Amino acid sequence: MTVKLHPTKNDLPAKSRAQLVGLLNERLASAIDLEYQAKQAHWNVKGPRFHALHELFDEVASAAGEAADELAERAVQLGGTARGSVRLAAKTSALEEYPLEAVSGDEHVSALSTALATFGAQVREGIEAAAKLGDADTSDLFTELSRAADKHLWFVEAHLEGKS
Ligand SMILES: [Fe+2]
Repeated sequence: MTVKLHPTKNDLPAKSRAQLVGLLNERLASAIDLEYQAKQAHWNVKGPRFHALHELFDEVASAAGEAADELAERAVQLGGTARGSVRLAAKTSALEEYPLEAVSGDEHVSALSTALATFGAQVREGIEAAAKLGDADTSDLFTELSRAADKHLWFVEAHLEGKS
């Protein structure tokens, strides 16, 4: 995708910035999708572990919302345009469709852990891609976000313990 840049005195080469903006926007779409997948789980989960899961899923949604904000703002700092509409996110997210029929804690834990793992992998893949483009700062942002995704994946997967 060709990215049209806004003027900036940022010293990274424009060609690299254009590619970095592309990387950031791909992950922004997934972060927005993840935020609302977690909300879907937060709103609809039912069962004996309702309270713990309801709270945990909301925490995942908040973290994904913060991740989206960081990704979007980094894209703009590099002279890009944040492509953060919900419609665009739906078209370009790397995440699988969330199962709308999910009800039980296990069903939501399974679906949301898949979403978190996909997002974590996509962000992790960006660490080296950004480093290769000479942008240690974007690489660092991807590192921070993949670490947070891993932490939430752990929190969500911990609910599967002793069930297999
Ligand atoms: Fe709520």
